[in-house]
Amino acid sequence: KTGEMGGCPVHGNAMRSLLGRTNRDWWPEALQLDILTEGGRSANPAGEDFDYAEAFNALDYKALKEDLHALMTDSQDWWPADYGHYGPFFIRMAWHSAGTYRTGDGRGGAGSGQQRFAPLNSWPDNGNLDKARRLLWPVKRKYGKHISWADLMILAGNVAIESMGGPVFGFGGGRKDVFEPESTYWGTEEQWVNEGVATRIQPKEGMALENPLAAIQMGLIYVNPEGPGGDPHDPEGMARDMRETFARMAMNDEETVALTAGGHAFGKCHGAEPTDTFGRAPEGEDLHLMGFGWLNDEDEIGKGHITTSGIEGPWTPNPTQWGGDYFRLLFKYEYELVKSPAGAFQWTPIDPEEADMAPDARDPSKKVPTIMTTADMALKRDPEYRKISERFRDDQAALDDAFARAWFKLCHRDMGPKVRYLGPEVPEEDLIWQDPVPAGKAPSDGDVAAFKAKVLDSGLSVSELVKAAWASASTYRHSDHRGGANGARVRLAPQKDWAANDPDELAKVLGKLDELRGNMSMADAIVLAGSAAVEKAAKDAGVEITVPFMGGRGDAGEEHTDAESFEPMEPFADGFRNYLRSKADVKTEDMMIDKAHLLGLSIPEMTVLVGGMRALGAVSGNGKAGVLTDRPGALTPDFFVNLLDMGTKWAPVEDSGDEEYVGTDRKSGKERWRATRADLVFGSNSQLRAQAEHYAEMGNEAAFVCDFVSAWTKVMNADRFDVSYAKNHA
Ligand code: HEM
Repeated sequence: KTGEMGGCPVHGNAMRSLLGRTNRDWWPEALQLDILTEGGRSANPAGEDFDYAEAFNALDYKALKEDLHALMTDSQDWWPADYGHYGPFFIRMAWHSAGTYRTGDGRGGAGSGQQRFAPLNSWPDNGNLDKARRLLWPVKRKYGKHISWADLMILAGNVAIESMGGPVFGFGGGRKDVFEPESTYWGTEEQWVNEGVATRIQPKEGMALENPLAAIQMGLIYVNPEGPGGDPHDPEGMARDMRETFARMAMNDEETVALTAGGHAFGKCHGAEPTDTFGRAPEGEDLHLMGFGWLNDEDEIGKGHITTSGIEGPWTPNPTQWGGDYFRLLFKYEYELVKSPAGAFQWTPIDPEEADMAPDARDPSKKVPTIMTTADMALKRDPEYRKISERFRDDQAALDDAFARAWFKLCHRDMGPKVRYLGPEVPEEDLIWQDPVPAGKAPSDGDVAAFKAKVLDSGLSVSELVKAAWASASTYRHSDHRGGANGARVRLAPQKDWAANDPDELAKVLGKLDELRGNMSMADAIVLAGSAAVEKAAKDAGVEITVPFMGGRGDAGEEHTDAESFEPMEPFADGFRNYLRSKADVKTEDMMIDKAHLLGLSIPEMTVLVGGMRALGAVSGNGKAGVLTDRPGALTPDFFVNLLDMGTKWAPVEDSGDEEYVGTDRKSGKERWRATRADLVFGSNSQLRAQAEHYAEMGNEAAFVCDFVSAWTKVMNADRFDVSYAKNHA
């Protein structure tokens, strides 16, 4: 565990922008295609309604796998296969595609094929993977819409493992491609790892790894293979960096060891020459190189003179065959520190036997020494990693099982509920990290009506009911499809105790709903009670409306829940409930936008939800701030009307760190309202002010209620893949 700083979006002293350094900062001269997406125009040539699940289900999966098997050994002159087999290269491509995932915000991962776009296509750690993807293009072209790039990259990794005799646990398709780079916060540094950017963990200086980041330096998937900050003499630091970054990807020690050792059973490192003789990364490279980067002379490539990481050599004598050689060699030999031809630090066995040497990647008659990176050495030197490594050395079946399972988790961690997986190779077994939810049964219309009446008669307030429903549903994140109301995990640890959820009040509400629900699942009851409250609030504002309800949620128990894995999902800030744990180095209003993005909301949806929830008094801690209405509990646009009223003058509250504001009557000077940054931004920001004006306009009161109900329903149903995907499994 790192200190408190590692647990919240606070880093250093400077206020950071939401996205840190973006593609435009890295490549100011790159083509600015995003102006063509203004006005909500989509960049997806297949159209937003394209049903990928349907297309995938019509795929000739067997033929695709056969083609992928054939591709493994179909060496191309423009990028010849090491040992005549592309398998290891595809495994690295798949691993780097999935390995950007991080639990902090659920972003990254293999889910949308982001490795095709900047910045990931040009990260130093993704060196030469442009070639791996290009090798796959004929297969992608042949199967077209039936297989996304995102799925194909992972499946190619699976087939690679199979084709080299390795263990595979299964494959689930369903990763829909996007056609533009996603806006993900990758850090603030202005240099890449190979340009000397400092490491992000420096315990002596009290620096922890900033949340949600999961890599040690800008441009890396996880750690620097040569050692912390490139220093090979610090094995403890190496293990610390690995443990921290792999934990950010939800991997424990055993999974980390199995993955790293299992991965490095295959292939080799590339460090034939000093890296400064190579071209630029793809995104900044010349036009005629057609999207390729890091190139050197074609003749040199043909000879296998390739530099990627700068480290040179394979880990085992059989780099295209699964087996136990990695651990056998790691423990059989003492290793000494040497430098590769490209000048990188690496480790090589002292006095290896001839049989433990490896073939040259292009000339099998030549023998070369095997190697270990400093990261591999950590598996032997760190006491905890070592215990696991020795066990795997002595028990190949245990390694087979652990690697297959950890690889499956790595590649599917960001896909959310298992119901989203497609294809004939989805494993039967339910896995705890899939957050399984037992099937539920939708209540009858009669039960729905009776329950709503009982809830409104129960003495629970509109605000209490709305807050409970929001606490339950708003954990959903479309980044990794986790969270949401299904399963009713809001009644379990850790969610029931989250400060943002006002635990005492939540316990009271849930206890009452439990008494009233009859046969209905708690998950349905919580959402339905929220709907009943919204309907009442609309009625009190003079609008009769029914909130659509889609029942059928199930209740998860503790046995279905890895409580620890939910901890990173605790809201640090939730602008919708006007909640802020403590001041951070990201602006409070930025964190509200971030939350809205994770919920998959548009700007109007975010706006109407904030305004509506303030009017309902649904704020954490039940404070006054943001409740800009004299009739809390009625679904009125009062929040917007009062926010934009020029009769009020706003000023920061002293000592609040510009987090709290007071609104006074311009004439009398009397206090009228209190507000936070997440409130005033709807008056101060020009775009959000335009939204607020829309909802404050006379004549839009009913539209406000309708829009609120529709955005509310979207959040409540955001995780209902059990319904939306049911037809794909029929
Ligand atoms: C290659 C480092 C984890 C699979 C490499 C290379 C480095 C490296 C430096 C050489 C790249 C090149 O020069 O071509 C690391 C570090 C890891 C790690 C530091 C974690 C601490 C993994 C994992 C997997 C994996 C989890 C997969 C399960 C591979 C494969 C190759 C490779 C198959 C060979 C690629 C080829 O032959 O072209 N890794 N790796 N690595 N890595 Fe890893």
